[in-house]
Amino acid sequence: MTRSTPEPDPAFTNCPSREATGSEKWDRWPGGKILPLWVADMDFAAPQPVLAAIRQRVDHGVFGYTHAPPGFAPALVEHLQRLHGWNVDPDLVTSTPGVVNALAVSARLLTETNDEILTFTPVYPPFLTLPGLAGRRVVRVPLAQSTAAWTIDWDLLAARVSPATKLFWLCHPHTPTGTVFDRADLLALADFAQRQSLTVVSDEIWSDLLLDGQQHIPFASLDHPAARRAITLVSPSKTWNLAGLGCAAAIVPDHKLCQNWRAAGGGLVPMINPLGYAAAEAAWQHGDDWRRRLIVLLCHHRDLVLAAVARVPGLTCIAPQATYLLWIDCRGTGCADPQAACEAAGLGPSDGRDFGAPGFIRLNTACPTAQLEEALRRLACAFSTP
Ligand SMILES: Cc1ncc(COP(=O)(O)O)c(C=O)c1O
Repeated sequence: MTRSTPEPDPAFTNCPSREATGSEKWDRWPGGKILPLWVADMDFAAPQPVLAAIRQRVDHGVFGYTHAPPGFAPALVEHLQRLHGWNVDPDLVTSTPGVVNALAVSARLLTETNDEILTFTPVYPPFLTLPGLAGRRVVRVPLAQSTAAWTIDWDLLAARVSPATKLFWLCHPHTPTGTVFDRADLLALADFAQRQSLTVVSDEIWSDLLLDGQQHIPFASLDHPAARRAITLVSPSKTWNLAGLGCAAAIVPDHKLCQNWRAAGGGLVPMINPLGYAAAEAAWQHGDDWRRRLIVLLCHHRDLVLAAVARVPGLTCIAPQATYLLWIDCRGTGCADPQAACEAAGLGPSDGRDFGAPGFIRLNTACPTAQLEEALRRLACAFSTP
């Protein structure tokens, strides 16, 4: 599995310290004894063209209420066409301060109180918590775990749907497993949604970080009636490390729904800040070289983690096909609390319990290689028997 080591890339080697910047990731364990490899942001500075666009917008000096600037939707549309071969009408792009926020809006717009929202698990925690906050119910459909892949259990999916189910929240690629759904899966899911009259909301925030040259297929790009009704959520935030700037987009399938979408957020969803718009537009337009170099590093980091996991008896990990996240099954070690064991060894992963999967941890590899190597030494210590 291990491929050759890539040449060190300065963009991903020397990272600014995040101390005293209010970093959620680094402030979680004060004192510096625990290496934080949890929440999904990167320790790398954003690409130069993005920084230049932000500086230019700052130099303008006026930061009043701001709509999407004229270049925002066209930049996204061109990006989606170039990367995923998907043609989107720019009038159907609506900006949103975040994908989580957009999921919450979708629940309120497309379902009634007590309706059900289906989703595959384990999954990014807000998929599990947002329905309840909106008075809706989440229905979990666990993915099937084999030695080599996470796959859809179609029988279970059919068994879990009910007349109260109105929405399917698809995480595509899936987090935390890093699963990329292929065309056959997506078409089968579209058939299922059509039969059950479900709307699919597809969170495609990770779709620009597919590893090993794989191709992302946007759910809404399928030639299928369920795809033509689907809502797609995208963002530059994972790919170019812009989460703190709060700028994402929803692609809504028709003009009427687009109007309703905007109305559903009225008074609840804040306007997006002008720096977020500037950064997003520049990333989509000028960020591709940096993104490709990042993927080279992420493939290498994935391989380092897989090799380290293979050396620890009882740990297993199915190789992710996307993202910079590794979903590690620790149940074979017999350790009752893997998260606590890691923290005691100076490593701070995400706790699988937050994703509905006790016994697992999630490691974020988007840090300099030397730091990841140190983290992997600590991982081995965490599960070494005394
Ligand atoms: C699948 C998924 N969706 C959404 C988000 C967060 O999106 P946002 O910060 O735009 O709300 C994350 C962050 O890790 C994620 O993994």
